[in-house]
Amino acid sequence: MVSAMKVSDLPEGSISAVDLKGTHILLANLGGEVSAVSGTCTHEETDLGLGFVLENRVICPLHLSQFDLKTGQVMNPPATVPLQRFNVKIQGETIFVEV
Ligand code: FES
Repeated sequence: MVSAMKVSDLPEGSISAVDLKGTHILLANLGGEVSAVSGTCTHEETDLGLGFVLENRVICPLHLSQFDLKTGQVMNPPATVPLQRFNVKIQGETIFVEV
């Protein structure tokens, strides 16, 4: 598990991209539940940290594929490959991710 960021820096409804051990990861806080998926779109390697949150999904800023932030599942083309999902643990004020 690698320390990623403070819980207080990830307000409810927000996303934030971090680089951990050379992996670009997207953290999300959905209704107080923190999740982590790959932060790179599986279509053309766009940074999903620049995307938009809609309910429990992130929308890629380039071609608008949507991914479920909890499962990584891809919801619509042009992307067809889901995002990798990472385990998360909260300890005290810190979010840890299993990379
Ligand atoms: S780069 Fe994300 S949908 Fe094309």
